[in-house]
Amino acid sequence: MGYRDLREYMAVLEERGKLKRVTKEVDRDWEIASIARCVFQGVEESKRYALLFENIKGFEGSLATGVLGASREVYALALGTTTDKIYEKWADSAASQIPPIEVKTGPVKEVVLKGDDVDLLKIPVPVWTPGRDGGPFITSPCVISKDPDTGVQNVGTYRMMIKGRNQTCILIFAPQHIGFHYGKYEARNEPMPVAVAIGVDPSIGLTSVAKVPFGVDELAVAGGMRGEPVEVVRGETVDLLVPATAEYVIEGFVPPHVRVSEGPFGEYSGYMGTRDETPILNVTCITHRHRPIYQAYTSQMPPSESSCLRGQAFASGIWRQLVRELKEPGVIDVHITESSGSQAHVIVQMKPRYPGHAKRVALIVSGLDPLYGKIVTIVDPDIDIRDHFSVDWALSYRVDPARDVTIIPNVMALPLDPSTEDPSNVTTAKPFEERVQVKGSKMLIDATVKNAYPEISLAPAEHLNRAIAEWGELGLPPLELPNRFKLLLQHHPPGESFRPYQ
Ligand SMILES: Cc1cc2nc3c(=O)[nH]c(=O)nc-3n(C[C@H](O)[C@H](O)[C@H](O)COP(=O)(O)O)c2cc1C
Repeated sequence: MGYRDLREYMAVLEERGKLKRVTKEVDRDWEIASIARCVFQGVEESKRYALLFENIKGFEGSLATGVLGASREVYALALGTTTDKIYEKWADSAASQIPPIEVKTGPVKEVVLKGDDVDLLKIPVPVWTPGRDGGPFITSPCVISKDPDTGVQNVGTYRMMIKGRNQTCILIFAPQHIGFHYGKYEARNEPMPVAVAIGVDPSIGLTSVAKVPFGVDELAVAGGMRGEPVEVVRGETVDLLVPATAEYVIEGFVPPHVRVSEGPFGEYSGYMGTRDETPILNVTCITHRHRPIYQAYTSQMPPSESSCLRGQAFASGIWRQLVRELKEPGVIDVHITESSGSQAHVIVQMKPRYPGHAKRVALIVSGLDPLYGKIVTIVDPDIDIRDHFSVDWALSYRVDPARDVTIIPNVMALPLDPSTEDPSNVTTAKPFEERVQVKGSKMLIDATVKNAYPEISLAPAEHLNRAIAEWGELGLPPLELPNRFKLLLQHHPPGESFRPYQ
């Protein structure tokens, strides 16, 4: 069974040493973001932890960050599995959906604020790139909207810049599912009701950033992940079902055809974004728990919580489509590099079955979603796709650039990629409809072997394994052998050349 709410999950994190409390008073305008950034830059991935700021100058309540994506290990804990089973767990959750169940009330209704009592400025929303961002941004919203034709709800994470006591921007891209909904409301010239849940049980936060097919309610996938239905309550001022144990729910309406200036914001690419013109949410009600915990994702320059979350969710989706749905033979593993902001560079590990197979898989991956795969690299099973050194070795000596690199011109560019950004976007705010028209190209790299290869220049496994077994007798510091080394020993038995298509 899953976690009841964010609090129960955070207690587990703390017990495992993966959550640290900060009791010193901190400033939400610069200090929270700066401390969190130092954790992502200065603590190695396997040791990273979430933070709970308990004393925020001028605010009541606390702030948690890193709780879902401080590292892959933390991510796996949130998902209720281990790091080696993340993709299977995702695929199983999608295949065994459990619809949410409506209950009369829940902790999220402990405090209900309407009319003049609505005040977003009382929530400790940090400025994430101090001195550069346009204002405080809500980075962890689970935005709930409803298809006006089918009544099916969608949950997605779309950043929101606070504009005042009862207004926030909401960054809606047309190809995202909320963009489909909003397009329908705009065509009817009607406001779109929206409810934004913050600080939810981890299954909801994780599905909110994942690529769940349009028309499937993320709350049902979250139910599949937790093994029991998510309890939901009806909104106070909008006809939407919201998680009953959320820390906060912000309700309101997004009017049609209204755009306001938003940004800039430190982007997932590691660069500052430009100013945008986005729709606006007029807030009608805020409900929250007593002593609410405001949950935020640390984003911007990778590595970040955002790059961890998107990387795991998007790669799980690619793996599910290749392995579970297409049943593509030979495909083993998928990784999106975190240095590419977990979007630009997708790497697939596979054993190609025939000439051209690797390129075919690269073409499939590049076309799955405009959000990722500007570069798609395919490597053999002896390459560790999570190790830059290993991948670079394959790129260096298994690729003849003229033969093995394919450029696909004139396709939808990765959103917010400065290399393809229209220069006029940088100085002039543009409506979001115009931004997605930016064109770019894709690069597919077949870094698999295509002919019989010489033996690798390593001592045979029997010698190396013996040296490893007797290491203790040498009085040298312990060895930490990387996975790439183990893969080489496993896939290159002495006397055999490495042959493709077997
Ligand atoms: C921290 C964070 C912020 C995000 N911000 C946005 C955003 O502002 N706009 C957007 O379209 N997607 C954003 N995403 C990606 C979406 O959450 C993701 O594509 C998700 O699948 C959207 O849900 P949907 O598929 O139901 O549209 C963000 C992801 C993360 C982790």
